[in-house]
Amino acid sequence: MRTIRASIIGFGAVGQGVAEVLLQKDEYLRNIGLDIKVVAIADSKGAATDPNGVDLSKVLTRKRTEGIVGSEKLTGLEVITDTDHELVIETTPTDIETGGVGLPNMLAAFEHGRDVVTSNKGPLALKYRQLSEIAKENGSIFKFEATVGGAMPIINLTRDVLAGNDIISIEGILNGTCNYILTRMMEEQAPYEQMLAESQELGIAETDPTYDVEGIDAACKLVILANSIFNMDVTYKDVDVKGITKITPESLMLAQDDGYVIKQIGEVKNDLIRVGPRLVPVGHPLAVGGTLNVASVQTDLAGAVTITGHGAGSIETASAIISDIISIYR
Ligand SMILES: NC(=O)c1ccc[n+]([C@@H]2O[C@H](COP(=O)([O-])OP(=O)(O)OC[C@H]3O[C@@H](n4cnc5c(N)ncnc54)[C@H](OP(=O)(O)O)[C@@H]3O)[C@@H](O)[C@H]2O)c1
Repeated sequence: MRTIRASIIGFGAVGQGVAEVLLQKDEYLRNIGLDIKVVAIADSKGAATDPNGVDLSKVLTRKRTEGIVGSEKLTGLEVITDTDHELVIETTPTDIETGGVGLPNMLAAFEHGRDVVTSNKGPLALKYRQLSEIAKENGSIFKFEATVGGAMPIINLTRDVLAGNDIISIEGILNGTCNYILTRMMEEQAPYEQMLAESQELGIAETDPTYDVEGIDAACKLVILANSIFNMDVTYKDVDVKGITKITPESLMLAQDDGYVIKQIGEVKNDLIRVGPRLVPVGHPLAVGGTLNVASVQTDLAGAVTITGHGAGSIETASAIISDIISIYR
C-alpha cells in the first residue's frame, strides 16, 4: 500500500467534491494500492490539519454547517509550505488576470517538491510554461485534466491514450453555459437575454456571465490545450475570441432551415487558436446540446476521435482530479 499525503487548497464545490469522492472511493483506491491521506484542508478563512489524516466527513459537515473547514489560522500558502506532504490538490477560484492565489500556491508547491493536481485554469492560462518548467526542475508532477472540460478527459486522451499519434487539431465546445444558452434559444426560439436569465436562475450561468458568454473561459481552455498538447507558448490574449451575445433566434432558425445548428466552437491547430460561433451540421458529432462539452481530436493515425461529457459539476470535476491522482501514483 502506498500512502500519499495530500492537501486540498480551496474547499468549495470542487474541493468538497474531491473529499466526497475520496470517502466514496476509499476501498477502490486501497484495492489499487493507494492510501490517499488528506493531511490539510484550507479555505479562505483558515485550515484544518492533522498529520494522521483529517476526518473528511467531519470537515465536510463543518464547512456546510459553519462555513469553515477549521479554526487553524493558516493560509493555503502556509499549508503548502509548512505541512509535510507529497500532493497539493489546488481548487481555489480561477483568476485569469493575475493567476489569483492559485499561482503562488502552485509555484510554492513545486519549489517544495510537491506534485500538483488542479482544476484552476487561471495560473495555466497565464503561466503554463513557467509552471511546467519549475515542476520539472523540482521533480514534481503537474496534472490539470479538470481545467479543460471538467469530467471530459481531453488532455489525458490526447497525451496518453492517443500516444504515438500526431495531434493535428482539436475543436469542440468547451463552455457548457454558452452551449446551454444557444440550445435553449433554438428550442424556444427565444432571444439571448431571456435564455441567459433562465440559465442564471438555474445556476448554470454566473451572475456576471461575461467570461462565459464572451468566449474568454473557452479561450483559456484552448490556451491550456495549445500549451500542453501543441507545445505553444500563448496566453488567452493570443486567442481570436468572439462571444455569443449577438446571436439572434432568427439566425438560429435560418441555420436550422439549412440543416445546421450554431455552436460556440473553440479550435486549436498549428498556428491557429480561436473561439466563436460556427455553423455545425445537425447530427455532426460536435452538435451536442444542453450543458454538454464535446471535443474532437484530429490525429494522423487514428483519424478523428470525439468525446463528450459534463464540463462542470462538483463530483464530475472531482472525477478528473481523482483520475489525475491515480495516474500519478498507481
Ligand atoms: N465548479 C465546477 O464545476 C468547476 C469545473 C471545472 C473547473 N473549476 C475550477 O475549479 C476551481 C474551484 O471551483 P469551485 O467551483 O470549487 O469554486 P468555489 O466553490 O468558489 O470554491 C473556491 C474555494 O476556494 C477557497 N479560497 C478562496 N480564496 C482562497 C485562499 N486565498 N486560500 C485558500 N482557499 C481559498 C474558497 O474559500 P471559502 O469557502 O472560504 O470562500 C472556496 O472554498 C476554480 O478555479 C474553478 O474555475 C470548477
